[in-house]
Amino acid sequence: MRGRALVGLLVAASTACGEAAADPEPGALSADAVRYLEDPAAGPAALEAALVNLDNGYARDRRAHYRVGDWLDLPEWRPRVYPARPGETRPVGAPLAAPETDPPRETDAFRALGEALFFDYPVQFVPGLSVALADPARFGLGVTDGRVDGLIWVDAPGGPALALTCAACHSRPTTAGRVEGLGNPDFDLARVVGSAWPPGMADVTADGRDDPMSFPDLRAVRFQHTLNRAATLRNGLLPLAARAETQIIASLGGVARPPRTYALALAVYLFELSETLPAPATTGRGRAVFDAACAHCHAGDGLAGEPVPIDRIGADPYLAESPERRTGYWQVPSLRGVADRERLFAGGEVEGLDALLDPGRAWPGHRFGLVLDAADRAALLTFLRSI
Ligand code: HEC
Ligand code: HEC
Repeated sequence: MRGRALVGLLVAASTACGEAAADPEPGALSADAVRYLEDPAAGPAALEAALVNLDNGYARDRRAHYRVGDWLDLPEWRPRVYPARPGETRPVGAPLAAPETDPPRETDAFRALGEALFFDYPVQFVPGLSVALADPARFGLGVTDGRVDGLIWVDAPGGPALALTCAACHSRPTTAGRVEGLGNPDFDLARVVGSAWPPGMADVTADGRDDPMSFPDLRAVRFQHTLNRAATLRNGLLPLAARAETQIIASLGGVARPPRTYALALAVYLFELSETLPAPATTGRGRAVFDAACAHCHAGDGLAGEPVPIDRIGADPYLAESPERRTGYWQVPSLRGVADRERLFAGGEVEGLDALLDPGRAWPGHRFGLVLDAADRAALLTFLRSI
């Protein structure tokens, strides 16, 4: 399932000229993707097949509700939204144009829709967000073209309200512009909700425990073998779409759902973000050190791997054993794009690549690459900075 190329796959549905199963059309959505749009049962079936452990809260909840007669019959959530600008106390000016619900079945059209939704589709109401709108920089949020990335005004039944979009946590502001998909290490949601999490982390589970995780780098999501740090789901375009669909339903409290085109568009957009990452070198000393010390876990083009038992890593088992997402395993994340990540690991324990390979570092987890001589360490760092 994983890494399936979207471009150039055949649209199995009948085409405009009436031929079934015509020649592959470059840029058309894959047959799987079309099935997800047309058959309401395709998303639930893909999610069911992708679940790694049926005995956790995530699996139980999805299996109970993500089906016809329940979540799939909810009304579509397409609220009127307004851009959120620094200092506003209510929406000003015209609403944004409503995103299309039936774009052409082409990768490019879905990618563009997904990008718009990633920045503008409200996924979570958080009381008190107006403090972040008043002073976005203090909360680690960027401003692009006068608008605060990651916040959106929603015409909600009780009056205008601010909501988070995917971009609040998964787009990083930099002086050279935002990096779409990269975890935002500065977004300080804790300061809004009054919790003790550090910036760049949040507890996104409903397991009743305070187990925040750092915001992952979604540019690499196409390369992941499994999704979520606890390796909750096997990866693929349909599982990713179903993950987004059910995530939005759950965060809206189970009262509305996104149009299926929106969930698929988000997944297509995220898969296409991999195009923004450089291809790793296949030769050279740093690559050779990596192959010897790291590649049995971080393997292949994506430098990602099959999940490993959590005690192999020595990471905080509290995080991996969340009753909601528990699988007993830990995702071996893709390292593509790793040089841009400020805080490494699920718990954000290590700051940057130099600290990762510092034998004197305090964090006791992930003890790999710590016994290299100086030249090998330097070569490995150069390789890691180039991927
Ligand atoms: C409040 C911050 C926040 C928002 C908003 C948010 N996420 Fe996340 N996201 C997280 C955190 C934290 C994790 C890590 C969870 C884990 O690993 O269990 C995560 C994990 C993910 C993953 C798994 C990545 C991987 O490599 O395993 C995907 C995919 C994802 N988010 C997509 C989205 C999309 C799409 C949206 C918008 C619909 C969104 N997120 C909104 C915080 C957020
Ligand atoms: C036994 C398997 C294994 C080996 C060997 C291994 N890793 Fe990892 N690596 C993991 C796992 C699992 C994680 C996720 C742990 C977590 O998030 O707490 C990880 C996470 C990372 C991260 C953090 C990525 C992020 O986005 O947070 C980096 C960087 C990394 N590894 C680099 C390396 C390097 C460099 C080597 C070789 C010197 C290496 N790893 C060897 C399994 C491994």
